[in-house]
Amino acid sequence: MSGTGTDYQVCIAGTGSYVPETILTNEDLAKRVDTSDEWIFTRTGIRERRIAAEGEYTSHMASAAARKALEQAGLEASDVQLIIVATITPDTLTPATACYVQQQIGATAAVAFDISAACSGFLYAMKISKRLIADGAFENALIIGAEKLSAFVNWEDRTTCVLFGDGAGAAVLRRAAPEEGSVLATEMGTDGRLTHLLNIPGGGSACPITASNVGDNLSALAMQGKEVFKHAVNRMKEAAETVIQRAGLEAEDIACVIPHQANLRIIDAIADRLSVPNDRVFINLDKYGNTSAAAVAIALDEANRSGAFKRGDHIVLVVFGAGLTWAAAALRW
Ligand code: COA
Repeated sequence: MSGTGTDYQVCIAGTGSYVPETILTNEDLAKRVDTSDEWIFTRTGIRERRIAAEGEYTSHMASAAARKALEQAGLEASDVQLIIVATITPDTLTPATACYVQQQIGATAAVAFDISAACSGFLYAMKISKRLIADGAFENALIIGAEKLSAFVNWEDRTTCVLFGDGAGAAVLRRAAPEEGSVLATEMGTDGRLTHLLNIPGGGSACPITASNVGDNLSALAMQGKEVFKHAVNRMKEAAETVIQRAGLEAEDIACVIPHQANLRIIDAIADRLSVPNDRVFINLDKYGNTSAAAVAIALDEANRSGAFKRGDHIVLVVFGAGLTWAAAALRW
């Protein structure tokens, strides 16, 4: 309970996603760096990723996903009260990408801000907006995970450039009627002792890009892949178990698990540890690679629209990212 007197049920009323048209395959990458489709696919499960067009920004992708989510929810942009964009690749350091989205979709009545929690951002946004709606502060929220990671990748570093892609996913949360679905339980966590494992070192106030370091690729993602892998499996398993338990469910009650789409081996390890059969785990990273905050949001929309679950089913979302951060949510659809 919120402790404020009100505690509305909150449902997801609509989802949407958008990916850019341009496809970059593993074969295309093998022409640029010393890699192969075989290496990338067997280590990660990725076949291809989408790359934003010149002049296509994170906000444009976010707005495209948002419009679809609003349409499915039957909500006019002018009625949106809160917009949260989760991104690590904002259009500008300030103002927030959510402000550009507000302007682009015409959500003039909304409060809009960004959160930075890397790949966990969409579920951080879900928890924050769920609480704000449950408390009665807002009636609805538009949450979006959107990334243009192609602008923050060192295209000469084969250990990272093969992993990431661009795209956006969105969901509309609102007060639910008793017979509707519900966000049952949420969990999030952070371990700031591990900031060094995955970061973009330059471009912030600690290390501005200057004429003398401009060639050093400091605004590109840097990662210690093996260490990240280990933490990802443990934290995602724990977070998923926590929300399943808090929601009063057992693993066999879960119709669909939608994990962060970073690496198929991480996903398989989590499914195994949760004792959820592979056919109940939604995967689309073969098509998009790791799109950070957008990944679980795009997957939720594709799972929703492809009928991977139906009304009344229980689903679990679980994510992990730089920070290190992690989060999970259990929903009744
Ligand atoms: N193509 C070919 N060879 C590559 C390569 C590529 N794209 N990238 C790395 N290699 C090479 C390495 O140089 C290394 O060669 P060496 O043995 O001669 O030194 C070898 O492959 C093994 O590299 P390693 O880093 O040990 O591979 P790995 O099995 O750990 O797989 C990742 C690398 C990145 C796929 C894996 O660690 C991973 O997915 N980690 C988690 C990353 C993640 O999910 N990040 C996002 C979290 S939100």
